[in-house]
Formats: sequence, structure tokens, C-alpha cells
Amino acid sequence: MSRYTITAALPYTNGPVHIGHLAGVYVPADIYARYLRLKGNDVAFVCGSDEHGVPITLKAKKEGVTPQQVVDKYHEIIKSSFSEFGITFDNYSRTSAKIHHDTASEFFKELNEKNEFIEEVSEQLYDEEANQFLADRFVVGTCPKCGFEESYGDQCENCGTSHNATDLINPKSAITGNVPTTKETKHWFLPLDKYETWLREWIVEGHKHDWKTNVLGQVKSWLDDGLRPRAVTRDLDWGIPVPAEGVEGKVLYVWFDAPIGYISSTKEWAAEKGKDWEPYWKDKDTKLIHFIGKDNIVFHCIIFPAMLKAEGSYILPENVPANEFLNLEGNKISTSRNWAVWLHEYLEDFPDKQDVLRYALTANAPETKDNDFTWKDFQTRNNSELVAIFGNFINRVVVLTNKYYDGIVPVPNEYSDVDLETLEKVKQFPSSISNSVERYRFREAMMELMNLARLGNKYLADEEPWKVIKADEERVKTVMYVALQIATALSVLSEPFLPFTSNKLKEILNVHSSAVENSWKDVSDKTDLLLSNHQIGKAELLFAKIEDKDIQIQLDRLEATKVANEQEKKTVEPQKETIEFDDFTKLDIRIGTILEAEKVPKTKKLLKLKVDVGIDTRTIVSGIAESFKPEEIIGQRVSVLLNLAPRTLRGVESQGMILMTDTTDGKLAFIEPEKDVENGESVS
Ligand code: MF3
Ligand code: ZN
Repeated sequence: MSRYTITAALPYTNGPVHIGHLAGVYVPADIYARYLRLKGNDVAFVCGSDEHGVPITLKAKKEGVTPQQVVDKYHEIIKSSFSEFGITFDNYSRTSAKIHHDTASEFFKELNEKNEFIEEVSEQLYDEEANQFLADRFVVGTCPKCGFEESYGDQCENCGTSHNATDLINPKSAITGNVPTTKETKHWFLPLDKYETWLREWIVEGHKHDWKTNVLGQVKSWLDDGLRPRAVTRDLDWGIPVPAEGVEGKVLYVWFDAPIGYISSTKEWAAEKGKDWEPYWKDKDTKLIHFIGKDNIVFHCIIFPAMLKAEGSYILPENVPANEFLNLEGNKISTSRNWAVWLHEYLEDFPDKQDVLRYALTANAPETKDNDFTWKDFQTRNNSELVAIFGNFINRVVVLTNKYYDGIVPVPNEYSDVDLETLEKVKQFPSSISNSVERYRFREAMMELMNLARLGNKYLADEEPWKVIKADEERVKTVMYVALQIATALSVLSEPFLPFTSNKLKEILNVHSSAVENSWKDVSDKTDLLLSNHQIGKAELLFAKIEDKDIQIQLDRLEATKVANEQEKKTVEPQKETIEFDDFTKLDIRIGTILEAEKVPKTKKLLKLKVDVGIDTRTIVSGIAESFKPEEIIGQRVSVLLNLAPRTLRGVESQGMILMTDTTDGKLAFIEPEKDVENGESVS
């Protein structure tokens, strides 16, 4: 038996939890925690709401409420949906809790007293109009590492790199859209450069065989680029006040306080249970495992470990099994664009189908690469796997046992070679599943579990008890006995993956009381998991078929989101920068008529047009081929920007630009005069 501290990334309380969070973090973490408990380990599985940080302030601003109102609302939704979904946190805390404020403040003070920080006045980005320093998500700009144009001040969502806001190229305020100025301010910096060599030895050298390659790859790339001091304080009013003499209006950086939330959550739990929290964080024999998504790697593999190391009395993670991302129907999941399947909504639409989602997400887990969730796949996983394989096997075993023996487990006769082989195979499953789980390969582990159900199905199909019963009743007793052992093994081994199903199956088999309950180890040791003469219950369906219409409702909802997003994009296009009248008069816009049109070969969008613009007839290449057929637009009146410098597109020189309007339904429209005016008349 070992002690484990398992953490799952604290979700930001600026929105509910969606399937991307579940597949990346919470489902694998829960499988792991349940598995370890089942094997008799001492487990603290902790999480909580991440309630500080800029996304929450932005959301509050947008909704015209206080940040506290935002976090209260989502904390409740998140906490109760996790619990209904069967995520078995030992404790779910929140970073606005007093115990967390105290723990994080103490941690900061400790490092400050030990001179582990650099205190420095430096120039930081400032928004004059909003009267505010710009850090983290308050500022967007081009990532200095990968060139992504919408990187945040502290982290680029495209390449995962974490940087200082002042490193951004072309920064812009997310509040006003203004180009920031800079202003001096004092901050506390953690000198990450000091930890570079140590990090390299510990992770890149020390864990090169047991950490996931995606994690090692990212860590190595940052170390190769060189680490620099990172500010751990901010000029903001939402967060944990910087606990230093005479400091006001400054808070701890959210990524400084949030991971300490794992510690405070453990403390809160221990206090409630009358336990000592310290062994879970300070005993060298405790294994600390962080479950996170790939955008959190830098914080859990570089910054938090450096903080723990600086403090000195804490253990370091044994592993950080970060997952890649899950997409939804081919598009990136996005809270702000409402492109997601929200857990609390799923639970409303599919009550009692927690395990189906757990199954679909695990079968499709983004363990080594980004993956896609589709409702079609969800339906197929349910109908062709859970119903047709697992459910079908159990149903046959239970129905036949009731039919032949009134639900009483028969006494087996002599085993055939196939029986012995089958029973032997069943015994191998605990170790093969363990093997995968312990290497964080949950998808492989769950496939192995399904193979056990497949083994059961095949055994019944080969032995055909429903036929043999007419000729050899004694043989059928043995067959049913063996099949019942497989069903019982399934009830034990499915618990980490499909806990609701496992529970229901144990009820059906009537093995719920501790006297007859088997352990993980029993399944590898025993061939009499379910004893002869034991009474089982009646058949009940473990899984029900999901109909096309249920899936269509979900697809329609996503379609509606798509349309709404399109509309919003169109209507809220903000005004461009102010220009002077002179800038405008430089444009030479005239009315013209299209005389000829043809497609530019090998392009989808381009038409080559001959346009009479009054002063001459010129060639213009226009990207309108997806909206108009060439023959439709001969004679069309148009507005043309004449004095645009000529450009060659696909070998054709374009001598102007046709002005078009982008309508809300995404189609293009010409801008034509309301009266019949001559070609060459100016538009001004
Ligand atoms: N709130 C962060 C996110 O959703 C995760 C915080 S993890 C912790 O990306 F370590 F800081 F707790
Ligand atoms: Zn980047």
C-alpha cells in the first residue's frame, strides 16, 4: 500500500465544465484515483475552483456583475455537476476560501523571507484609458516564439509558451483595444533561470523514460530556450493581496496562488477527517501526480516545481500525465463561443448516462494527440459497444441463470479445456488493465476491459447453453457457472471506468455487501468469485440504445450555436481607426459595368472580370466565385476602387478592386447605384 496525492487542474470559474475538461483531466484522474483506492492505497484526490485571474474579471465586466458573483455561480454549477457525474474527489475546495488565502499568503511570505524572489521596479504595459496595468489576458499580441497573433500576456494558447507581457509583439489592450503605453511598477519575480539546471536533471534526465513524450518535449523546448525571471505579482484588485509590508493594490499572480490550491484543498480535507495533511505533501514516499491539459504543462512542470523547490519542504510530482486537446465536431472547443458540450447540460439531457460519456471520452481520449468528439461516435460507442457487447453479455448470463436455475448459481461439473482456458484468461485481466492504468494509458485499459466482455460473449456463443440445455443439462451448469464468474469479474474491474454500471451490476449479481464483494486481486487469484448456491437478482438493462433523434437534438443545438456566432461576428465588427478626410479623398471609387467574366483556372474563389469603368475597360481579379457564377453577372453594375496598386493574382494582373458587402448570412453582395448613372461617375 502506498500513499498518493492526486490533483486535477483547478477549473477556472468563468464558465461551466465541458467535455474537453473531462476528457483531458477529470475522467482520467478519476479512473486513476478509483483504481488506486480499489487496490487498497491511501489516496487524497483533490481539486477545487480556480477563482482568481483575469478571465473571471473580464467575464464580470461583460455581465455587469462582481467577480465574486461570477465565481459563486460557476463554483456551484461545477461542483454539483462533478459530483453528479461521479468524479470522486476527496475534496473539492475553492481558492476564495480563507484556508487558501492563508496558505498561499504563507507560502509567499516564506519565499520572500528566504530571499527567493527578486523585487524589482520595471516598466509594465499600461492602458491609459482604462487606468490599468495590462498583464495576462488583459493584453493580446503576437507570440514572440511562434508568431500566433492572439497570444495572451502570460501564455500563448497556440504553442503553450509562457512569457512576460512585455515580450509580446504589437500588444493591444483587451479592455479598450488601445495600444498600451508603459509605466513603472514594482513586482516580485521568481528567478526561474536559477532552476534551469536542476529542472533539466530532474525531468529531462531523470524522467525521460516514465513521463509522456508530449510533456517531456515541451519541457525540453522551454529549457533549451532558456528560462527568465517571472513576475508572481500583479497590479490588480481581484486576487490574494500581496502579503508584504505597505503594499497595496497588488495581488498574487493567479498561477502563483492556484497550484497552492492543491495544498489548501488537502488541508481542508485533512482537517475535516481529523487527519494530518503533511504526509500527503511532505513525506518522500508519497507519490504526487498532477492531471492536467497540455496548456498547463509549463506551470506544473516548471513554475510550481520551482516554487516547491524554493520552499524546500515539499515533495515534487512523480508524474504529470498531461493530455492533448479534445475538439468537438471538428472545431476547437471554446467557452466564449459556446462551442462545447457542457457537463451540466449533458446531465440534464442524458440523466443516468454518466458512464456512456465516460466511456466515449475515454475511448477517444486525447492521450497522445488532439482528438475529435462527435455525437455520431458517441452514439456508436453506446449502441455497438456498451449495449451490444457489455450489456448483451450480462443480460444473457442473468436471464439464463434466472430461467434455468431461478437465479441460483449452479454447481459446476467437470471443466472442459475451453472452460479452464477461459477461467485462466479472466485471471490475467487485472494485471493487464493495471499495467495500462499505471502507465496512464486509460484508453488502452478500457479497451482491455471491453475485451473481457468480448471473451464472455464469445464463450457463450461457442458453448451455446441455450441449445445444449435440451441434450445435456449438467454441461450447462458448468457453462453458466463459468459465465457468471466472467460477469462478476466485470463488476469488479469496471469500477474505475464505468462506476455506475459496476454498481448496478453488483446489485444485479447481489454481491454488494462486503461479505461477498471481491477485490481487484481476487479476480487474479480466484476462479470462484461467485459461489454456487448464491442467489442473484433479476435481469435489468445496463445500457439502453440511443436513438437518432436524441443525437439530432444535440447536433441541432450545435448548428444553432454556429449560426449565432456567425451573426455576432457580423454585427459586432467594431469601428476601425479614425482617418482624416484627406485619407478618404485619396480613394478613387467609380461606377462601372461588368462586361465579361470567367473563372481563373485551378482556383475556387477567383473570377477574372473585364469591367467598363468609364475611363477605360480594365481587367480585375475578384474573389467572388463562390457566390456568383460568371454568366450571372454580365451587365452587373458595380463600384470599383480604381487607384489600388495593380497586383498579379495567379498570373493575371488585377487593375482595381470591386467593392462588395459581406451580408450577415455570409453571402456577398454588389454595391450598385440606385439610379442609372454613367460608367465612370465617382463615388464620394
Ligand atoms: N484554472 C486553470 C485552467 O483551467 C488550471 C489551474 S491548475 C492549478 O487552465 F494548478 F493552478 F491549480
Ligand atoms: Zn506561441
